[in-house]
Amino acid sequence: MIKKGIILAGGTGSRMSPLTKAVNKQLLPLYDKPLIYYPLSVLMLAGIKNILIIVNKGQLNQFKKILPIKNNLGIKISYKEQNHPGGLPEAFLIGEDFIGSDNIALILGDNFFYGQNLSSRLKKSVKLNKGAQVFLHPVNNPHLYGVATINDKNKIIKIVEKPKKSKSNLAVTGIYFFDNRVINYSKSLKPSKRKELEIVDLLNKYKKGGRLKAGFIGRGGAWLDTGNIEDFYNTSSFVSAIENRQGLKIACLEEIAFNNKWIKRKEILEAIKFYGNCNYSKYLKKFLV
Ligand code: G1P
Repeated sequence: MIKKGIILAGGTGSRMSPLTKAVNKQLLPLYDKPLIYYPLSVLMLAGIKNILIIVNKGQLNQFKKILPIKNNLGIKISYKEQNHPGGLPEAFLIGEDFIGSDNIALILGDNFFYGQNLSSRLKKSVKLNKGAQVFLHPVNNPHLYGVATINDKNKIIKIVEKPKKSKSNLAVTGIYFFDNRVINYSKSLKPSKRKELEIVDLLNKYKKGGRLKAGFIGRGGAWLDTGNIEDFYNTSSFVSAIENRQGLKIACLEEIAFNNKWIKRKEILEAIKFYGNCNYSKYLKKFLV
């Protein structure tokens, strides 16, 4: 069972400069909330209550303003700083003490997931005891991602980082579930040509041992990119379209906590005080009646 999660929210966000010169990318507005709310909501939907957020050195206070330690979400959030982004598996080295002897989920701070069956799929994934699990999703531009090739039994037979050419269009999305071996495996990784520890090398270690499983978001689900300004804007429009049509918010953290029975009316009231007079607070008032 996985009860802990890491959000990797470091990175320079260089492709989004100058927007990211002073502000961490994960704090930029994805429609009506900071980007970090979305991956955080995904971990919460998975039922994970103990969360480590890894941020760039010097940017901790920015995060604490948006997600105060004394939060009203009924979860525990801790932070660690990263001196220099050195690849995704670094999360398990920085987070070694946090992970302890437990299993762990990792989500990238800029990944957006949405879909009808997402919660139930996530809840299945956190049942993992041994090995690792990734979620795959078809994309038009696989060369930008880790790409997995599967056989007719949905077993991963090959996994490559940003292949120039690939017959598979299945990208490895930015949410991962690992057993505790992940710490030692990460320690044994060597930096790649781009001088980073690669998540794909880590996944290949699990694959070699026959311990890497594939999960699928399904074609009705969305996994959207926020990697560059165009994609960021498109994802923002997606959130706006769904929210305004349905009158329901995506990634309203308090709503998820309330539905999970982690918080009550009192915390909703405190959250409204924290956010102040805004549409997000207006939405939260729904849960007071
Ligand atoms: C990283 C991983 C890649 C994965 C992607 C998901 O890519 O290296 O395997 O498919 O996240 O967002 P990067 O964001 O470093 O380009």
